[in-house]
Amino acid sequence: MPDPTSQSNYLQISTEHVYFDWNVDFQQKVISGFAVHNLIVKQDGVREVVFDTADLAVESAEIHGQIVAYELKPKDAVMGSALHIPLPSDLKSGSSISVKVTYKTTKDCTALQWLEKEQTQGKTFPYLFSQCQPIYARALAPLQDTSSVKIKYSAKVKSVLPVLLSAIRKSPPSEGPAHDGKTIGKDVVTYSYEQPVPIPSYLLAIACGNVRYRPFPKIDGKDWTCGVWAEPELIDAAYWEFSEDTGRFLAAEEEVVTPYRFGVYDLLVLPPSFPYGGMENACLTFLTPTLLAGDRTLVDVVVHELTHSWFGNGVTHAEASHFWLNEGWTTYIERLLQQVLHSPAHRGFSFVIGSKALTDSLKEYSDRPKYQRLIIGFERGEDPDEAYSSVPYEKGANFLLHLERTLGGLDVFLPYVKDYVNTFIGKSITTEQWKSHLYSYFEKYGHDKVKALDSIDWNAWFYGEGLELPVKMEYDLTLAEQAYTLAERWNNSRDTSDPSQLGFKASDLKGFDTNQIIAFLERLQSYSALPSTHVSHLGKLYQLSDSSNAEIRLRFYGVALADPSSPAAKSFAIDAANWVVGDDGTGVVKGRMKFCRPVFRAVHRVDQKLSVAVFSKSKDAFHPIARKLIEKDLGINAS
Ligand code: BES
Ligand code: ZN
Repeated sequence: MPDPTSQSNYLQISTEHVYFDWNVDFQQKVISGFAVHNLIVKQDGVREVVFDTADLAVESAEIHGQIVAYELKPKDAVMGSALHIPLPSDLKSGSSISVKVTYKTTKDCTALQWLEKEQTQGKTFPYLFSQCQPIYARALAPLQDTSSVKIKYSAKVKSVLPVLLSAIRKSPPSEGPAHDGKTIGKDVVTYSYEQPVPIPSYLLAIACGNVRYRPFPKIDGKDWTCGVWAEPELIDAAYWEFSEDTGRFLAAEEEVVTPYRFGVYDLLVLPPSFPYGGMENACLTFLTPTLLAGDRTLVDVVVHELTHSWFGNGVTHAEASHFWLNEGWTTYIERLLQQVLHSPAHRGFSFVIGSKALTDSLKEYSDRPKYQRLIIGFERGEDPDEAYSSVPYEKGANFLLHLERTLGGLDVFLPYVKDYVNTFIGKSITTEQWKSHLYSYFEKYGHDKVKALDSIDWNAWFYGEGLELPVKMEYDLTLAEQAYTLAERWNNSRDTSDPSQLGFKASDLKGFDTNQIIAFLERLQSYSALPSTHVSHLGKLYQLSDSSNAEIRLRFYGVALADPSSPAAKSFAIDAANWVVGDDGTGVVKGRMKFCRPVFRAVHRVDQKLSVAVFSKSKDAFHPIARKLIEKDLGINAS
């Protein structure tokens, strides 16, 4: 079955290479230019090439320098407008053809957010960044926007601000003077990039703003480089947060899997409206600035993103229904690295924290049980963003952990992991292909392993719905114990009316790291809601209600808003809503959807009007993708 999210005819003819020639226009807020596709014919006599587009203003199409008549079909709400371009007759399978499309993005572009200078750290220059996964690359360029097609690309981008792409920089040098020594914000500089490793379209990315580079220490014997990009005001903090771990984890991952193939692994710390924690754009992971906690406790997001270099960017899911192959595998391996570089207890602890996220997501989809499945089976034109949740991450990672244990532990499983990556790297695959390789790999190791595989309830893992995993999983709870004990003390204190008499002390959290505070607050949420007097006391005593760590603050609001009808819920809801939109004195929006969506949903449960009013006032602060999804969550008709 072809990719249900794409209208392109990639099975008949498919892109091998694209050249982008772009101008970034901050005044008009458009990218204009052209894309030249080099395509390979897959089917004799193919009559046209069909590209995905969304809200693009197409100006012309040319084949080998000749203008041709194209047709831009009406817009499908999810898939966009198919761009049909006729081809010369009698094309033979295996032959190649080049097609040029000249176009501009428009103000409705969902892939791009154009920030005013006030929305940046430095407040001096505007900023632009993209988010193409899952299906927004088509809003940036006409493409066969399916993860089944892998393309190489090269690009020249002209801009008055430094440009970063998900590729290798050719010129000017990253380590040279910023903006090639020209005046930032005024002079136009051409940035050249090349991506020689074929990647799926969702890994295309551009960022453009007043950014600087700082390389991380070189690791002996490695020919790849890594470093961090950020606005100058944040570059020291960003370097401190990530320089210790990035190269170390990348090197460790090469031991576990195979060598790193992309040459460069850089991080970019984005402005706060970036809608994800991290996004594994090729050569250049995008990160939310909320990771700059000042204590290196949130680097697991970097470990996750760099793991995608193999699982996702290397071995890619063929289409959205098999998204777990990207995220479940990445989560599983990310946690394995926690074990290799920290301890088995750290791995167990990540699964503990993940299981709360899984339960929340499964509950969220009680009315749409299809999205509780590991393999979703999207209908044509169904929006993969509607299904985005922790399910593919956590169900997927637990499934692999269960396989690891069933097959005899890491000694048996790790050599298989290498073989899996070596077999499929550079390809796009379905769950069926993954499973048949798994069987053929273990068949070589005899009857016992095959019997072990046969004991797996495949159907329950792939298509099971409901709130439970098919198997009850046990995790190492060492790092969670203290947090659980403290949560239990609070739970047992609920009948005491004056919480200041309870004997809790600020030092109760002494020695807790961020994840342990999270585990404490999540455990509290598993009990019935605490009285609001207790919640207020808890928030102040442990400085949770004004924590600058967004992960902690989110969990505090989870506790505070657990009972929407409690007397204090309204006041907590106001605090939470203000925090998300930056009306808490910081002016910093929490654009990461992991934070803003659950908070808006919780506020909505307390007071619908309040949630809609606060969001509507601040909606321009959010990325178009976040805006779209929050509007759905709050039942607002899209504008
Ligand atoms: N690739 C995802 C982000 C994504 C997925 C964007 C689907 C759009 C559609 C990225 O690797 C990711 O998983 N980010 C997580 C990080 C976390 C699991 C450590 C996030 O943003 O929360
Ligand atoms: Zn991921």
